[in-house]
Amino acid sequence: MSLRLGSIAPDFEAETTTGPIKFHEWIGDSWAVLFSHPGDFTPVCTTELGEVARRAPDFEKRNVKVIGISANGLEDHHAWVKDINEYGGKVAPTNVEFPIIADDDRKISTLYDMLDAQDATNRDAKGLPYTIRTVFVIDPKKIIRLTLAYPASTGRNFDEIIRVIDSLQLGDKYRITTPVNWNKGDDVIVHPSVSNEEAKTLFPDFTIHKPYLRTTPLKVD
Ligand code: BEZ
Repeated sequence: MSLRLGSIAPDFEAETTTGPIKFHEWIGDSWAVLFSHPGDFTPVCTTELGEVARRAPDFEKRNVKVIGISANGLEDHHAWVKDINEYGGKVAPTNVEFPIIADDDRKISTLYDMLDAQDATNRDAKGLPYTIRTVFVIDPKKIIRLTLAYPASTGRNFDEIIRVIDSLQLGDKYRITTPVNWNKGDDVIVHPSVSNEEAKTLFPDFTIHKPYLRTTPLKVD
């Protein structure tokens, strides 16, 4: 099954570092970020999970729950979390509180097509692939709104993931899109489906640069 933007995120049951979950039930009325990492006790992943822990207030502010996954078991996850917190403390106080899914049988990684098909170093002793660095942003209706796939060798930029969530959440609320390198607070683009007549009411300060490119400041609460 191919998971596309607009697909329903497959539901599953799993053991996690914070207890057993049913995925859709766990998401509830929140947004969710499901992100895979190649494996426990690996360097890039250790830096990534520390960063995600430190960004907890940014996710919470946006009503986003985060959950990690790798093809390792709970015992390893728990031991590794201690390392992540210890190493992360060199950057800033770090406390991994989000759940990490135990997926040593690769059931969920397979369901979400997360397994590495190209990096021969990203395998266990039996030659079975670990996961790549996948990100799924899922909305409260359980619809997949963003997918990212990074190789094991490259740590992700969580500023970018938060930036996309801001754009998606704003686009759900207002008839707008967001331009290149946009960040929250910058001018946005009036959605092409909005006529100039409508835009005068919706976005009184909008500017027409080209008939198809109109921007506006947007006051948000
Ligand atoms: C890492 O997290 O550092 C990593 C994991 C697997 C392959 C390469 C790098």
